[in-house]
Amino acid sequence: MRKADLFDEIIFRLRESAAHEPTAQIDPDLLQALMSAAPPREEKKIITPAPAPVAPAPETIPLYAPEPPVRKPLAGSLQALAQTVQNCQNCPLCSTRKNVVFGDGNPNAELMFIGEGPGESEDEQGLPFVGRAGELLTRMIGAMGFDRWNDVYIANIVKCRPPGNRNPEEGEARACLSYLDQQIELVKPKVLVLLGAVPLLYLLNMRGIMRLHGNWFEYKGIKTLPTFHPAYLLRNPPMKAEAWKDLQIVMREFGKTPQKRNG
Ligand code: URA
Repeated sequence: MRKADLFDEIIFRLRESAAHEPTAQIDPDLLQALMSAAPPREEKKIITPAPAPVAPAPETIPLYAPEPPVRKPLAGSLQALAQTVQNCQNCPLCSTRKNVVFGDGNPNAELMFIGEGPGESEDEQGLPFVGRAGELLTRMIGAMGFDRWNDVYIANIVKCRPPGNRNPEEGEARACLSYLDQQIELVKPKVLVLLGAVPLLYLLNMRGIMRLHGNWFEYKGIKTLPTFHPAYLLRNPPMKAEAWKDLQIVMREFGKTPQKRNG
């Protein structure tokens, strides 16, 4: 977005915000960080909509063996688990990956973000969310008052890049899920933020990110909130305001409020 357009967008949103909430002022740094923002909204109660059915498993026999349903013993540490995942050949994505993208961040984080799977930059570097979407995610996390590298933990549904950045297929996601479950059990976050439709589907077994974003759910007893994937926000900048509302709900869970300017 051109600087002039960005400025116009910010002024427009500030006016809109003042009209709805005359006492609430949003720090322009936060606005700049997200490139758009919106007034806080009422926190929603935990709701449990009827889960949408996941597409039935294909009739054909997969060419690879997904992870067996029996859980392996939990790895003692994230490092031990990462070592195991480095050698994983549970699905065909292992044959096209350059690097396994295990996850990254504070192993004791209270806040964990879950994306869908590595893209090209992540595959090159072996780290999650280091491309363009990652830059936006880093700014979003910063705007929430957290440091992306030191405060939170970031992982994906699949640990290897789906070719051409397509969504992971169901067999690939299911073959990888036990690794994510173990990461969650080891990190023990207080809150999970699901980035987009893919983690919504494979962790909560639900479809409909447009309808369900910004609501609290539970995954294995952990408060879980879906919001939009940063790559989607890059393609649809007006939706950043919605994502920011979602993230403010998460901030309140940690006793954080968007900074207000004095005077
Ligand atoms: N998109 C994701 O979902 N995960 C990444 O790590 C990078 C981009």
